[in-house]
Amino acid sequence: MATSDAILAIDPGSVHPVRLVRARTSARLNRLRTQVTRLSPKAASLTVEPLRGRMDSRRLSMIGLEELERCAIHSESALRAPYQKYTQTISSPVMALSLELAGTLDALCALLRPCHIADLGSGFSSYVLRRYAAGARADVVSVDADTKWLSRTRDFLQCEGLSPHELVEWSAFTNARYAAFDLVVDDLGHIQRRIDTIPRVLELLRPAGFIVFDDFHKPNVRTAILQACRAGGHRVFSLRRTTLDRFGRYACLVRLSD
Ligand SMILES: C[S@@+](CC[C@H](N)C(=O)[O-])C[C@H]1O[C@@H](n2cnc3c(N)ncnc32)[C@H](O)[C@@H]1O
Repeated sequence: MATSDAILAIDPGSVHPVRLVRARTSARLNRLRTQVTRLSPKAASLTVEPLRGRMDSRRLSMIGLEELERCAIHSESALRAPYQKYTQTISSPVMALSLELAGTLDALCALLRPCHIADLGSGFSSYVLRRYAAGARADVVSVDADTKWLSRTRDFLQCEGLSPHELVEWSAFTNARYAAFDLVVDDLGHIQRRIDTIPRVLELLRPAGFIVFDDFHKPNVRTAILQACRAGGHRVFSLRRTTLDRFGRYACLVRLSD
């Protein structure tokens, strides 16, 4: 029996209702994690991940994001037309972030009101974040390992009347000193680079800051994120409910420890 279950079994009446829900959720998650480690990555993706997605969607209320799903649907329809333009003229839907994640990012910005944002892996995410920043006195640094894609992103931003500044090459970004970010979106190109840089990317954030990692559906990315976050005491929320797309891709949200 998990420790939290044991405490509840001894004296459930002594626990505050919010703590009770948290303890039960945490016990269920621990069971879930045990199941995940016993399953093959493919089996885990098919069975446990949809469950984790549903549970994490409910857990978002613990960090004040119970409105995320409703806001994301609204944002998604507002972004549909520019998304189609981007994926028809600049990049492909397979390489760009999904419309579902674009809507979720926009909703996260509306709910969290970040002031200082890092956009790792430029593209349509740069458009979404700068569109928010333009009306919110926020700033965005967009980073790419490939200068050709920085210049394509710049073209699209200018065409859409958004700021083309602070488009930075990855090595210049890592050598520079930025103030700690409120929100980071990690969608850097090369998957192995993404995995290798997770601990470093987590260090870019302020305490209690937020980071969205795309490609949480990939078992190797997911394992690396979960390990790094567990080591740092950060909370991970699968965003499968709001970001699952037609290619089976989805993201996660991490809230850093205080
Ligand atoms: C997953 S993409 C990043 C997508 C970006 N965040 C967006 O919202 O569109 C990762 C990297 O792949 C490169 N890239 C983007 N579109 C591409 C394409 N159509 N073909 C090849 N590489 C591409 C860029 O260097 C980009 O930073």
